Amino acid sequence: MRSDYCGTLTAKDIEREVTLCGWVDRRRDHGGVIFIDLRDREGIVQVVFDPDTGEHFDLADRVRGEYVLQVTGKVRARDAATVNPNMGTGEIEVYGTQLNILNEAETTPFPLDSHHSVGEDVRLKFRYLDLRRQEMQKGFKFRSKVTNLVRNYLDDEGFLDIETPILTRATPEGARDYLVPSRTHENKFFALPQSPQLFKQLLMVSGFDRYYQIAKCFRDEDLRADRQPEFTQIDIETSFMDEDGIMAISEGMIRKIFQELKGVDLGEFPRMTFAEAMAKYGSDKPDLRIPLELVDVKDLMGGVDFKVFSGPAKDPKGRVTALKVPGGNDKLTRKQIDDYTKFVGIYGAKGLAYIKVNDKNDLDEGLQSPIVKFLPNDVRKAILDRVEADNGDLIFFGADKATVVSEALGALRCKLGEDLDLYTCEWSPLWVVDFPMFEELDDGSLHSLHHPFTAPSCSPEELKANPGEALSRAYDMVLNGTELGGGSIRIHNQSMQQSVFEALGISEEEQREKFGFLLDALKYGAPPHGGLAFGLDRLIMLMIGASSIRDVIAFPKTQSAACVMTDAPGGVDDQQLKELNIRLRKKEKPAVESKGE
Ligand code: AMO
Ligand code: AMP
Repeated sequence: MRSDYCGTLTAKDIEREVTLCGWVDRRRDHGGVIFIDLRDREGIVQVVFDPDTGEHFDLADRVRGEYVLQVTGKVRARDAATVNPNMGTGEIEVYGTQLNILNEAETTPFPLDSHHSVGEDVRLKFRYLDLRRQEMQKGFKFRSKVTNLVRNYLDDEGFLDIETPILTRATPEGARDYLVPSRTHENKFFALPQSPQLFKQLLMVSGFDRYYQIAKCFRDEDLRADRQPEFTQIDIETSFMDEDGIMAISEGMIRKIFQELKGVDLGEFPRMTFAEAMAKYGSDKPDLRIPLELVDVKDLMGGVDFKVFSGPAKDPKGRVTALKVPGGNDKLTRKQIDDYTKFVGIYGAKGLAYIKVNDKNDLDEGLQSPIVKFLPNDVRKAILDRVEADNGDLIFFGADKATVVSEALGALRCKLGEDLDLYTCEWSPLWVVDFPMFEELDDGSLHSLHHPFTAPSCSPEELKANPGEALSRAYDMVLNGTELGGGSIRIHNQSMQQSVFEALGISEEEQREKFGFLLDALKYGAPPHGGLAFGLDRLIMLMIGASSIRDVIAFPKTQSAACVMTDAPGGVDDQQLKELNIRLRKKEKPAVESKGE
């Protein structure tokens, strides 16, 4: 039906006769001559019809926005005065000789060129129109290039692409499962995989040695700008390879993608321990583009006459930390400080103390602060020395349980980085390593920081003796403060796997019921193995600078995990429920929790 894409025509095509197919981006009537901007996935070209073309001119006069056309015409140079340097095809136009209206279109619910003023719900309801926009088309072309590169890279490295099931049993990755009732097995449910974790480990037991899959994962969890209930992983597993080998191969893949598609050399990724990341950045995914660091002052506060500080200072689980904003005195108004106080409140902080350093040598009069009156001069001096304060600096403080302080001040650090535009570079990748095996929940029980198949870096005896202190052989790749991927060396030994299940309080019966097949597989010659998975959507989001993961998924879910276009999830008829042996109960109020974006 066509000879060329609209958007690919250039001055080299002048004098060629072409046939194009596409959508009417704009139609203008300029004193008897009709201009049509015809659009396809490669871009837009200007087509001109004049009255000499008779019936075709009349048809051109009839077309409206988003009509689908087939146009034949000759490529010609534009007059110098009408050359448009902002358009890929701006040097030429097509002098139309034939026009065929392939389909008409009603007025679209929103103009496709001014989507910014359109609510996201409308864009998502008419997603097929939203996706017609050049910006969206560009994003999905980019995504396709990335997956192509990933496949080529991993293929060159000897990885096999193997699919794993979608109807399966629960794979614990820390979220709730999406369940699918079984018709043929009464009162039983499949779970959609939170990741292919267990299957890829079993493929190693089978001897495939290097596996990858661009895999759909399903997690029923609170949604944020970088989380979707259904998302895609670049999932990798290898045998007979240690942490360094796996990190080198996957780092190489990310470096190659950046080099080829953005012309950026990310260099060698630095490594940082989890402990250092939490201490300096309050986060296990630190954004190293921001040159602010947390500095602990817990040891200075045990004796001060200010319970807000002395309480956490004396509590083994407490943390008291300072965050210096160089020059913050002038940069931050009272109102901004109040706003930041509210901001840290989202993370559970009960306040945000601060000191403005007017004159660091005058400990009595030179510090402006609602809390300085509680601090004796030697403590004031010790704080200023520790954070290396200068006149004009502003120092924020957080005091509470360590988890609250880290989360609140870690988030404040990122917010300040963004608000004050403190970024020192465009891309900052790193590996975070030496994670704890477990985190302790409020009820004292242990919970896997990654997943329960992650190998500890200690012996089973040490793990049993002191599970809270055990470190794991896990690693996360972080880019600009986003966790891009994570993985670990796995347990390949049945008794170690059982020790970890025991530490997690999973009874032997439950172990057999849920993971019997894995424990069995580990008995029959499981090789040492490990791997990792990248969030493909997050990678694309970062690379194209999208503000939400929804912009890089063709048909995403809303914040409340629904699809407004197809109206999913939807009801089902009684017959279907009967076949599944399911009776519905009314719920008083659906609980939708969210921490916001
Ligand atoms: P993990 O749970 O860390 O590891 O997931 C790996 C990566 O997947 C991305 N990701 C998400 N992206 C979008 N929406 C979500 N809801 C979402 N959840 C996770 C993140 C994350 O880094 N089986 C292990 C990997 C392994 O050990 O090999 C796993 O799934 O970018
Ligand atoms: P208050 O005594 O509660 O009025 O608090 C005095 C100052 O300490 C205010 O600036 C509060 O914002 C701050 N503050 C209160 N609780 C905390 C906390 N847990 N961490 C840091 N600062 C706090």
